[in-house]
Amino acid sequence: MVYSVKTFNNINQIGLKELGNQFQIDGDKADNPDAYIIRSQNLHGVDFPSNLKAIARAGAGTNNIPIDDATAAGIVVFNTPGANANAVKEAVVASILLSARDYIAANAWVNTLSGDDVPKQVEAGKKQFAGTEIRGKKLGVIGLGAIGSRIANDARRLGMTVFGYDPYVSIEAAWNISHHVRRVKDIKEIFANCDYITIHVPLTPDTKHTFNKEAFNLMQKGTTVINFARAELVDNAALFDAIEAGVVKRYITDFGSEELLNKDKVTVFPHVGGSTEEAELNCAIMAGQEIRQFIETGEITNSVNFPNVHQVQTAPYRITLINKNVPNIVANISTAVSNLGINIDNIINRSKGDYAYTLIDLDEEDKSKIDILVAEFEASDNIVRVRLIAK
Ligand SMILES: NC(=O)c1ccc[n+]([C@@H]2O[C@H](COP(=O)([O-])OP(=O)(O)OC[C@H]3O[C@@H](n4cnc5c(N)ncnc54)[C@H](O)[C@@H]3O)[C@@H](O)[C@H]2O)c1
Repeated sequence: MVYSVKTFNNINQIGLKELGNQFQIDGDKADNPDAYIIRSQNLHGVDFPSNLKAIARAGAGTNNIPIDDATAAGIVVFNTPGANANAVKEAVVASILLSARDYIAANAWVNTLSGDDVPKQVEAGKKQFAGTEIRGKKLGVIGLGAIGSRIANDARRLGMTVFGYDPYVSIEAAWNISHHVRRVKDIKEIFANCDYITIHVPLTPDTKHTFNKEAFNLMQKGTTVINFARAELVDNAALFDAIEAGVVKRYITDFGSEELLNKDKVTVFPHVGGSTEEAELNCAIMAGQEIRQFIETGEITNSVNFPNVHQVQTAPYRITLINKNVPNIVANISTAVSNLGINIDNIINRSKGDYAYTLIDLDEEDKSKIDILVAEFEASDNIVRVRLIAK
């Protein structure tokens, strides 16, 4: 069996080798692929092909994918958490230093000089770029996931006092955060206390405009705000008022929009935080591994719309279902299996919201019986996707 993968954007070819030889990369020509591997391709308003079972986003953010529509269509959406975290961390550390010393303006000024006495002019004019050091300054990190936790730890090593805010921090991330990072329970403590504030949360209705008028009102004068997460986390109108009032010393972001360009005290980068050679390779490798594991074994790792599911297959057949999370569904599935006289070797049912993923290993060699069961599941209104995987 050869599976078709449609790639969008420029996915690193070495990473795609992770798919192995059961997969054919059909670039953007595939008409009914089994899986997509994408980067920032916008899938909103685009119909999913009927055969599409999985989408892997080579990157962390998935707001270019209509997740609820994908779930309802029985498509598992993956991302590659942490694969570009080191790249973004380094960009943020650079941004903290750029704000402290204003190297960009200093370099631009030096380039305006001319004449035999440039060294003299440099000495006479350099005072305006004296800047400050980051050692001993307070950094607030909002969101202590893959990126935020790395920044918090490294900023500590650079001598900063670090405050972290994340009410939903994962156990894995929490293990990795230095005990020197001060966890705060109220985001207001970050706004009120820190010289530098950086945000690393997903964009959701809850996090949209985290930096709003109220937040800026709590800040002390001269605060640097760094946003390498998503544009809409900051209310730009409130930001401009805060810059005007001297509350925000500098806003550094990876997300450009016309109103932010060529503004005093605003530094915009062209969404390059996660775009190092290493990060792109890591993301493609991880995306390839996730798709291969899911298609070949039915196991799920790093999905944003279904829980992780891992189970080694020892039985001859495995059926995976994406089903509505309705009462008695597991009992009905088990009854359908036992009515055909088939033994269940193992069953896992994990739900997330209105849908669930069910993996059933069947101790049955007779393929004709398995086919009848698959047909029954396919006919059920509560089951949106059925896959059969032979060992
Ligand atoms: N600029 C870039 O190139 C680039 C690259 C990668 C990621 N990103 C952005 O950075 C974001 C973070 O990436 P990550 O890899 O660290 O993700 P992650 O999932 O590892 O971490 C996100 C953290 O945010 C926390 N969080 C969620 N809601 C919160 C809230 N309301 N308040 C405080 N914390 C909250 C979560 O608990 C989690 O720990 C992504 O969602 C993406 O938008 C940007």
